[in-house]
Amino acid sequence: SDKAAGERIVAARARLGKRAVLLCHHYQRADVYRHADLTGDSLKLARLASQSDAEFIVFCGVHFMAEVADILSRPEQIAILPDLAAGCSMADMANLAKVERCWRELGTVLNPDEEITPVTYINSAADLKAFCGEHGGIVCTSSNATTILDWAFAQRGKVLFFPDQHLGRWSGFKKGIPLDEMEIWNPDLEMGGLTPERIRKAKILLWAGHCSVHQMFQLNNIQRFRSEHPQGIVISHPECAFEVCHASDYVGSTEYILNTIKAGPPNTRWLVGTELNLVDRLAEEVKAEGKIVQFMATNICMCSTMQRIDPQHLAWTLENLAEGRVVNHISVPPHEARLAKVALQRMLDLS
Ligand code: 13P
Ligand code: SF4
Repeated sequence: SDKAAGERIVAARARLGKRAVLLCHHYQRADVYRHADLTGDSLKLARLASQSDAEFIVFCGVHFMAEVADILSRPEQIAILPDLAAGCSMADMANLAKVERCWRELGTVLNPDEEITPVTYINSAADLKAFCGEHGGIVCTSSNATTILDWAFAQRGKVLFFPDQHLGRWSGFKKGIPLDEMEIWNPDLEMGGLTPERIRKAKILLWAGHCSVHQMFQLNNIQRFRSEHPQGIVISHPECAFEVCHASDYVGSTEYILNTIKAGPPNTRWLVGTELNLVDRLAEEVKAEGKIVQFMATNICMCSTMQRIDPQHLAWTLENLAEGRVVNHISVPPHEARLAKVALQRMLDLS
């Protein structure tokens, strides 16, 4: 049972002591989150991993996060993902073969290595971060994307942003780039489905990727909330569609959402466009201050891969570590890690 697994986690952690640190993303389920040493959004967790001295960095999150922990930690430290099937469906919407093909196709219209800065959302595989490291590009997260765009445009006139079109579009919009100067690059079509003229005119090429959880939040959810609660406040994650972000009062990362609502005035009502585990936990935490926190969608939507990290997997992982067996080690090949670190370090230096 989950309760028995919870006790096993506590026991194994006691045996491991400071050898293991448990990093937990805000979308983790309550019965895992309560065991966290440290919590955060992607950027904060990347930094925490880079600063940790623990032998084992046990990452309760998804695959790309554990990869980042491996890349940013020292070589002798070991990053671990309690369930190897915990991926990110958005990250999977771009891969190296498709991005390289895109770069080659863009090369028939312009000189990408001089005219385009590749920017990858941290929700991407390590080899895509390495691609950015190699081609003068950079990584961004939901909390620093506009700062990263400033840097990217200071290097070259155009940006190729992958895999999340929504974060790219919202960040470009905040930078004042007209929507008609942002084009969607569809990796399943030749030349992304674009004409040479449109490629030349575009400031940002947006990879046609999205998050299946955040696409559930819709403008009519906000409209209904506003009509029922005119004083209510709306806050969304930038992975939401453009019209959802545009209709929100605040837009930001998971850490930003938590901090904004916690710091907000008492006796307020909030509508939140991000994953349900976070929203449920937050609603409990702030209800004593008279704050009501509502989930934006009418259907239940959790991130099914974040959800895969459950007490059983975590207990099994920690018990193995305590017995001296390393399981579910996430290890990025050295040549890839070196280039990915270039792109990650550019980001960390700016944020
Ligand atoms: P944050 O960096 O805001 O925590 O977002 C990560 C993520 O995967 C959101 O879906
Ligand atoms: Fe990936 Fe979306 Fe899950 Fe975040 S919520 S980890 S973007 S699938």
